[in-house]
Amino acid sequence: MKFKVFNSYEELSAYSAELVAGVVREKEDAVLGLATGSSPLGLYEELIKLYDDGNLDFSKVKSINLDEYVGLDGTHNQSYRYFMDLNLFNHINIDKNNTHVPDGVAEDLQKGAEKYDELIESMGGVDVQILGIGPNGHIGFNEPAEKLNLNTHVADLTQETIKANARFFASESDVPTQAVTMGMGPIMKARKVILIASGENKAWAVKSLIDDVITTNIPATLLKLHTDVTVLLDRSAASQLDEK
Ligand code: F6R
Repeated sequence: MKFKVFNSYEELSAYSAELVAGVVREKEDAVLGLATGSSPLGLYEELIKLYDDGNLDFSKVKSINLDEYVGLDGTHNQSYRYFMDLNLFNHINIDKNNTHVPDGVAEDLQKGAEKYDELIESMGGVDVQILGIGPNGHIGFNEPAEKLNLNTHVADLTQETIKANARFFASESDVPTQAVTMGMGPIMKARKVILIASGENKAWAVKSLIDDVITTNIPATLLKLHTDVTVLLDRSAASQLDEK
């Protein structure tokens, strides 16, 4: 696992965009595994800049998102489909038919989850997986637990996650309590993983990534078993690491 610490979130974001751009330049139909939330916002801004400047072509790129809230359809302004359209897809030349976000309002969520795994498989897996990290060490919505799921599934969000995400909603009680999330399987199988963490509230989870313990109670620690993970940090997220 490689760690890189940046003086600012802007520098971190520009660097992460170059990593993603490198993958796309090498493989024009690359499959991007995408995350929502605050962490990748700067990356998406930088990717849009690269596209605007004529330095990156998304016309053949495909994407698969990590998760979606149960109960929110794509028109809801806090749904992850809406987030992706707003913050990335509407601004680049990606074919929206090639962008995928789990269906949080499927009549049969379990069936939808199974279909999502088939879809990931049919796309040939993920070339580069973008991850944020929860303050509790979750990745996607694979929350700390005794057991983790391999496949896409409906996850109960922990109280800590609901609290952390309440900032996007009118009140904490408006935050959905469940999400459909990609399991650990496709994340661990992604050919390359880029994890972005910024802010003091991520420092504990980030520190857990350098300790030598791997535990399902801190799902991100499973990434230690992956051979190509780059962790990009700002100074605050790195504040509990010994060598900064
Ligand atoms: C989002 C996701 C989550 C977030 C994590 C960090 O699609 O899967 O794991 O990456 O909760 O969220 P932010 O970046 O908002 O701090």
